[in-house]
Amino acid sequence: MNKVLVSLLLTLGITGIAHAAGNAEAGQEKVAVCGACHGADGNSAAPNFPKLAGQGENYLFKQLQDIKVGSKPGAPEGEGRKVLEMTGMLDPYSDQDLADIAAYFASQKTTIGMADPALVAQGEKLFRGGKVEEGMPACTGCHAPNGVGNELAGFPHLGGQHAAYTAKQLTDFREGNRTNDGDTMIMRTIASKLTNKDIEALSSYIQGLH
Ligand code: HEC
Ligand code: HEC
Repeated sequence: MNKVLVSLLLTLGITGIAHAAGNAEAGQEKVAVCGACHGADGNSAAPNFPKLAGQGENYLFKQLQDIKVGSKPGAPEGEGRKVLEMTGMLDPYSDQDLADIAAYFASQKTTIGMADPALVAQGEKLFRGGKVEEGMPACTGCHAPNGVGNELAGFPHLGGQHAAYTAKQLTDFREGNRTNDGDTMIMRTIASKLTNKDIEALSSYIQGLH
């Protein structure tokens, strides 16, 4: 592991992320409105709606808090995470509701997709090796070799996610349209090294990863 990555990990560990203490059963009763887009069990059908099933509980809890702030009608630019489709939707939920919802989706099983065989080699090379010459670390250091992420650290589970959604996130981080990766700007920094072709290959590879 290189020095930059180690110091990033340490910074994250010390800063910490809010730990969720949710109840999955209570959560199941609060997600009826989410199913239309994300699927009742969190395995969405449409590729632009992210799968939530099997995602880390801490990561989900943080995103829900960020989306609640960023998707309030009239929220200031750059605050939280903007998801237009969810504007105002999380306003009625308390932190405990969000923790319960996170616990529910975390307890579901992710379905895995397929990678485009023509893109696997380039995707795998970037995912496992990074771009050494540009100082970009491998994705495996934080998201794990099999793409399950790191629950405690709040590094998201990526494996099996829709390629279209993943590609949009990487592009949004690169263009500064998604800014909730903290003061260390980890994902914005990493995405700044990725070309469109890199993003396409990584996203396809991740869709089939398990
Ligand atoms: C009208 C469709 C729609 C509905 C209904 C909806 N969402 Fe979403 N949600 C989206 C879209 C689209 C995104 C991704 C936005 C983007 O591209 O960044 C998203 C993103 C998310 C994310 C971030 C996932 C990740 O991997 O970072 C979470 C968590 C989430 N939604 C939870 C919920 C919950 C909980 C509900 C119900 C209370 C809900 N959503 C209702 C469309 C919807
Ligand atoms: C140093 C740790 C680290 C490395 C290395 C790293 N990531 Fe991340 N990644 C994160 C963190 C932390 C987040 C969550 C940020 C937040 O809270 O919104 C994240 C979020 C993401 C997301 C958004 C997931 C979602 O559901 O919306 C994608 C996609 C992603 N990373 C892909 C990658 C890829 C591809 C690579 C390699 C090119 C990579 N990451 C390397 C730490 C890392």
